[in-house]
Amino acid sequence: MIRPLANLLVTGGAGFIGSAFIRRVLAAQPAMKIVDLDVLTYAGNLDNLADVDPARHVFVRGDIADGALIERLVDEHRIDTIVHFAAESHVDRSIHGPAEFIQTNVLGTMRLLDVVRARPSVHFHHISTDEVYGSLPLGEGVFTEATPYQPNSPYAASKAASDHLVRAWARTYKLSVTTSHASNNYGPYQFPEKLIPLMIANCIEGKPLPVYGDGKNVRDWLHVDDHADAVWEILQRGASGEVYDVGGGNEWANLDLVHCLCDQFAAARGEPASKYRGLITFVTDRPGHDLRYAIAGDKIADQLGWRPKYDFETGLRATIDWYLANPTWIARVKTGAYREWITKHYGA
Ligand SMILES: NC(=O)c1ccc[n+]([C@@H]2O[C@H](COP(=O)([O-])OP(=O)(O)OC[C@H]3O[C@@H](n4cnc5c(N)ncnc54)[C@H](O)[C@@H]3O)[C@@H](O)[C@H]2O)c1
Repeated sequence: MIRPLANLLVTGGAGFIGSAFIRRVLAAQPAMKIVDLDVLTYAGNLDNLADVDPARHVFVRGDIADGALIERLVDEHRIDTIVHFAAESHVDRSIHGPAEFIQTNVLGTMRLLDVVRARPSVHFHHISTDEVYGSLPLGEGVFTEATPYQPNSPYAASKAASDHLVRAWARTYKLSVTTSHASNNYGPYQFPEKLIPLMIANCIEGKPLPVYGDGKNVRDWLHVDDHADAVWEILQRGASGEVYDVGGGNEWANLDLVHCLCDQFAAARGEPASKYRGLITFVTDRPGHDLRYAIAGDKIADQLGWRPKYDFETGLRATIDWYLANPTWIARVKTGAYREWITKHYGA
């Protein structure tokens, strides 16, 4: 069964992954128009969508917790599918201030589900994370869709809670839903607080490259375009009520990754790798830091034929090249110039 996708509402489409999804879908589907609801937190940036046709990207600044606004958008644009990316997404921020994570990730998701509850013909796709499964030992085991939930950070707990709401609303109110759990994403337009863009931005500025603990924590890296393609496959052909894990099949210990990044950054600039490897600084470990994430990925491969296409080292080099070619983007998100622009155009 191919789900007819005519009118999409994307939440969080000005963020890193949501904007990649919109850019890719609009490029591949010339007849499609997307309504994008985003409140534009520090992580939301309309520069990410500067190249899309504004006639096919209807941007609405607003909060997913505003039920009346969502109802209006769904009815006015005859939305048949909601793709829910909007979230507070940074683990370190969740440790320092969990309340916003509960507000957006849990209560905001509930508001969206309540709109769908009153319109059960609308399909709801929920974007989640492998972090809900907790932590694996080094070199042993992988997450599957059957792995029990053991979230360890306030961020992971808030995403786990939202996953449970999606499941419960679907079962209780007979809604059409799908959920995906992705591993760590990388690629262009990622806010420079997450590991890879932070390291690239600091290499550019010659600043220390902070590595948590001993750098042995392992993550499975997924290119953001591969993730966007996986979501599109699930939207089209994912069975209602199903959950799909989406991984890159690409595990790296943080320190090995930073070494690789330093070497590639140096090569891009024609400089010695030691100049950048010498910036690595070990910092106190993150509290509750998960040791290892790894995704099996068999279900989405077997049932939907999706597999990641990117080779990590090629994707990383392209990501470095993108940041080097876009200093204005980094400067704007880091200096607050973009916040001033938002205030001017959309109010505080
Ligand atoms: N980045 C990753 O590696 C990763 C991995 C797996 C899953 N995810 C999930 O993917 C989704 C997108 O992640 P991302 O990295 O693009 O995040 P991001 O922080 O770059 O973007 C989040 C977007 O949501 C918007 N937003 C936040 N609160 C909102 C609200 N209350 N109402 C409307 N919009 C709001 C922000 O303005 C921003 O544009 C999240 O649900 C995240 O949990 C991320």
